[in-house]
Amino acid sequence: MSVLQLLGIKHPVLLAPMAGVSTPELAAEVSNQGGLGSLGLGATSVEAARKQITETKSLTDAPFQVNFFCHESVEQNPQITQQWIKSFSPLFEKFNAAVPENLNCIYPSFKDNDDFLNLVLETSPQAVSFHFGIPHPHQIQALKAAGIITMVSATNIAEARMIEQAGIDIIIAQGIEAGGHRGIFNESYDSAVQTADLVRLCKKYCSIPVVAAGGIMNGQQARLMLQTGADAVQMGTAFVQCKSSAINDAYRKALFSKPATQITASISGRPARGIINHWHCDIDQPDRLAVPAYPYAYDLGKQLHAAATKAGDSGYGAFWAGTNVAQIRDMDARDLMNQLILEMNLT
Ligand SMILES: Cc1cc2nc3c(=O)[nH]c(=O)nc-3n(C[C@H](O)[C@H](O)[C@H](O)COP(=O)(O)O)c2cc1C
Repeated sequence: MSVLQLLGIKHPVLLAPMAGVSTPELAAEVSNQGGLGSLGLGATSVEAARKQITETKSLTDAPFQVNFFCHESVEQNPQITQQWIKSFSPLFEKFNAAVPENLNCIYPSFKDNDDFLNLVLETSPQAVSFHFGIPHPHQIQALKAAGIITMVSATNIAEARMIEQAGIDIIIAQGIEAGGHRGIFNESYDSAVQTADLVRLCKKYCSIPVVAAGGIMNGQQARLMLQTGADAVQMGTAFVQCKSSAINDAYRKALFSKPATQITASISGRPARGIINHWHCDIDQPDRLAVPAYPYAYDLGKQLHAAATKAGDSGYGAFWAGTNVAQIRDMDARDLMNQLILEMNLT
């Protein structure tokens, strides 16, 4: 079956799921134009996720996907955590904020228990996708039995093959250009493959559909990915600026400042690409301390950003964006979808 048939959509354009950025309105706008809207639910509670899914259903009858994090949950190393916190205490003091005493696991993994699985089965979206790994076999079986299409991000051919072997329906081929967190399964194993190369590798060595993600900002670039062999494209950065996204003014301003991006693991504990700020220029030095594991480091990163923002400094935000962010266009999601469809010659 083709991607369009599997996902029940008219156009091969997926809105990237973006935790903290995507909203029911943004998802519905993309779905209503014939693409696949998405909800990034990796950073929400089960109740908040249910609310977002219900709201999206009230805004569109068209298919959409929900997305969760599938990392291996690890215990934090108390020594690394305490050294990391200590190294940030001058900054917290500078911003008149309390230095954290400890760091918490702010995001559970889909694999930790079946709470999110049960929510997906209960609300039955068209598709569910996963980042950082593959769900447990019993979770995949339950989703398949319910007729829900499954997708997992791959950043190299080894991960793509594991995804296919696990019985997942679609590979999201996430290239090094992509904004946000690298979907790598193991933090110490990153092959840094570009999106077009990854699409070619997946098409050569796997037989399930492949969605290209990373660095696609317009319809011409999307069309090139389809010509390279991708069955569809997934776009994040291009949609972050939409009025219906959840970003704040500082993030919006940064997006339109012709910014450059860089990957760092210092913000969250996992490598992620974002707009360059204090994290990349001042903190992420070659001789920096060991970073606490994901998502413990992110607990500190978010607290520091909140404290700095209160003091008028927006330079500690996690403003995730892909390499081509400087090509961003100021358009609402409906207009952007229509423009992409025109540029891709899909009409
Ligand atoms: C702001 C932002 C947040 C993201 N959050 C998620 C997420 O929660 N789950 C996920 O699977 N991917 C997430 N991603 C990665 C996207 O799925 C996708 O790989 C990426 O946006 C593609 O590259 P592009 O941003 O250049 O279009 C995020 C990307 C961005 C830009």
